[in-house]
Amino acid sequence: MGEIFALGLLRAGWDPEDLALAVRRPERARETEFHTGVPTTLVAAEAVRGKRVIVIAVKPKDVPSLLDQIRDVVTVDQVVVSLAAGVTIASFESELPGIPIIRSMPNTPAAVDEGMTAYCGGSKADAAALADAAAVLGAVGDTIQLSEDLLDAVTAVSGTGPAYVFLLAEAMTEAAIREGLPHHAAERLVHQTLRGSGMLLAGSEKSAFRLRGEVTSPGGTTAAAMHVLEEGGFRALLEDAIQAATRRSRELGASASPDSAP
Ligand SMILES: NC(=O)c1ccc[n+]([C@@H]2O[C@H](COP(=O)([O-])OP(=O)(O)OC[C@H]3O[C@@H](n4cnc5c(N)ncnc54)[C@H](OP(=O)(O)O)[C@@H]3O)[C@@H](O)[C@H]2O)c1
Repeated sequence: MGEIFALGLLRAGWDPEDLALAVRRPERARETEFHTGVPTTLVAAEAVRGKRVIVIAVKPKDVPSLLDQIRDVVTVDQVVVSLAAGVTIASFESELPGIPIIRSMPNTPAAVDEGMTAYCGGSKADAAALADAAAVLGAVGDTIQLSEDLLDAVTAVSGTGPAYVFLLAEAMTEAAIREGLPHHAAERLVHQTLRGSGMLLAGSEKSAFRLRGEVTSPGGTTAAAMHVLEEGGFRALLEDAIQAATRRSRELGASASPDSAP
């Protein structure tokens, strides 16, 4: 995710010299610097110095040790933006007192500048901090500011969402092959249909319900397919999946909290 954001900022016109990356393995440092052109260090505190926005893009379990490395150099005129799933603003604020904190939940389409990131600000994050964080997060797609209690649902919907779409793509492709289409044709038909439908939905004033109605004539092929999906519980199954992901996000958040039992 850290590299996805760095590459996105470069595509958005940021100068590599205005960015800095911190990694923890020398071979990764060489790879990353070669791949991005961004100065890369093994000493996180060095990357932090002089930067307005600091993005924390390590796994939730690695957040405490990273904060230990940067605690003494982060200042109140900087903004710490966390991408770490489930790690609360309160836990960041207790580790970095007085520092503006932004907690966010991006997703992987950020790699093609089509990400969706929800974010929320901590008690020290003023309008300028929120705007500077949104400028970084928005370099790779759309952003929305929401309250922190909604981030578990966001994780289940847009954070995990690409996996639902990829599963749909897999299932449609397999079904297309079973109907006799060659593999390469099945993939092209499915990928372009998903891309085109997503673009139509995102660019239209009409709801998903209306757009679906427009391709469904009574007694037609789409109606036959929709009947099977509805009867088979497609809608209820997706609802259960999103509920399960929301619940899991809450559980992971509770285990990542500093108050949780080890
Ligand atoms: N992937 C997603 O779809 C997604 C979506 C939303 C949010 N997120 C969040 O984004 C964060 C990163 O996820 P990811 O999928 O990008 O994980 P990842 O591929 O494991 O990347 C994390 C990187 O952080 C490095 N790292 C760990 N501790 C470090 C330290 N102290 N200093 C410098 N680098 C350190 C790791 O180094 P090594 O290579 O040595 O392990 C690894 O390269 C997570 O908190 C996750 O919850 C991910």
